[in-house]
Amino acid sequence: MPDSPPVPDPDLFDKVVNLSKRRGFVFQSAEIYGGFRSTYDYGPLGVLLLRNVKEQWWRSMVQLRHDVVGIDASILSPPQVWEASGHLANFTDPLVDCKSCGARHREDRLDDPEVCPNCGEKGTLTEARQFNLMFKTHAGPVVDSAAEVYLRPETAQGMFINFLNVLQTSRKRPPFGIAQIGKSFRNEITPGNFVFRTREFEQMEMEYFVPPADSAEWYRYWCETRLQWYIDLGMPEHLLRLREHDSDELSHYSSATADIEFLFPWGWDELEGIANRGDFDLRQHAEHSGERIEYFDQQANEHWVPHVVEPAAGATRTAMAFLMAAYDEDVVNDDKRTVLRLHRDLAPHQVAVLPLSKKDTLTPTAREVFDLVKTRWMCDYDETQAIGRRYRRQDEIGTPLCITVDFDTLDDRAVTVRDRDTMAQDRIPIEGLVDHLAGELG
Ligand code: GAP
Repeated sequence: MPDSPPVPDPDLFDKVVNLSKRRGFVFQSAEIYGGFRSTYDYGPLGVLLLRNVKEQWWRSMVQLRHDVVGIDASILSPPQVWEASGHLANFTDPLVDCKSCGARHREDRLDDPEVCPNCGEKGTLTEARQFNLMFKTHAGPVVDSAAEVYLRPETAQGMFINFLNVLQTSRKRPPFGIAQIGKSFRNEITPGNFVFRTREFEQMEMEYFVPPADSAEWYRYWCETRLQWYIDLGMPEHLLRLREHDSDELSHYSSATADIEFLFPWGWDELEGIANRGDFDLRQHAEHSGERIEYFDQQANEHWVPHVVEPAAGATRTAMAFLMAAYDEDVVNDDKRTVLRLHRDLAPHQVAVLPLSKKDTLTPTAREVFDLVKTRWMCDYDETQAIGRRYRRQDEIGTPLCITVDFDTLDDRAVTVRDRDTMAQDRIPIEGLVDHLAGELG
């Protein structure tokens, strides 16, 4: 870690937003209708990046572990769930309006609670009122209070209300976890910073149920394990930090919470929260549902309510952070090159097949190479424009390896494999190509 915090590039934000739009990572939603504020659509490259982020999370949290299972719970849920979780009463932000310009702000985010940051007027802000962030809708044709349902504002409650189902069907016992990836919805007062804070976003959450006496130890374990996940996927350590919450930041039921923060262009901000939530959630649902939500410990011959350690990350926010961390510019032969130094497991395409020319003579061999590669790696195929420009295009979207099929290939059955970062080129026989790529890409 450097002594002083690194200074973020002031233009990085605009560069990444522009690249995202220009190359098809992220589009403004409903753009042809003027854009639907603060919602975004993931384009052909963005959907691949986002899938890879989620896949890597699932792999490390579920696939590679014997003690975590997954679920996919519904997005719509009845008010009882949110009554029990405390969201109906407490999931609010303090909202103030400016009487001069009409702008709305979160009171707790104002630099000066007297001054409107939009128009600069002093003393024009209304008293704060609590605004619930949950989206409400109605199930079925009758629009009355009996039909009210909510879009989940977090995936976590799906795990708590399925605790007994999973316990009974999966043969797991504490310590064990339930993981879920999916969309959540919050009617944020001040969405912004591109996909950092949106009203519709994806979360990757895991509830880890542990014997009460072990929760502090598991909390520390998950803080370290989750921080390492970002580092293993190529995020530079100096852009990450683990920030423990002060006691006045903690919810009343949490004995410890830490945020994994990333140094965004606007400063340190949250990627993920890890919380020691005690037995709050299971007890609340037990009380409100009337179910006995406990674990029967056969060895000790006693019932107890597990405590929960929760690592809760944002998939869309994390994908954006990976883009920001990977964005780089260097100079090659006096030309500026933009390169996304994405980890090979996150890059939208791991490989691109680039026939040197569009001539029919090269096409069958280039297709043969594409067919060889595509079953194992996400592979792009691009045959138009000069080869140098096509390399630049692939560098800009983070493709780790490009394979060029040229006229010599027709004689020697070998192709050129070019590395994104070193730009080194190796001549590899087609017969050994898959093994070579496996060595480079895993
Ligand atoms: N179950 C706990 C929970 O939901 P949270 O800190 O409110 O905790 C977890 O959310 C993560 O979800 C955050 O660290 C962030 O990455 C992501 N997230 C939360 N609100 C978001 C929003 N409006 N837009 C994008 N991501 C968001």
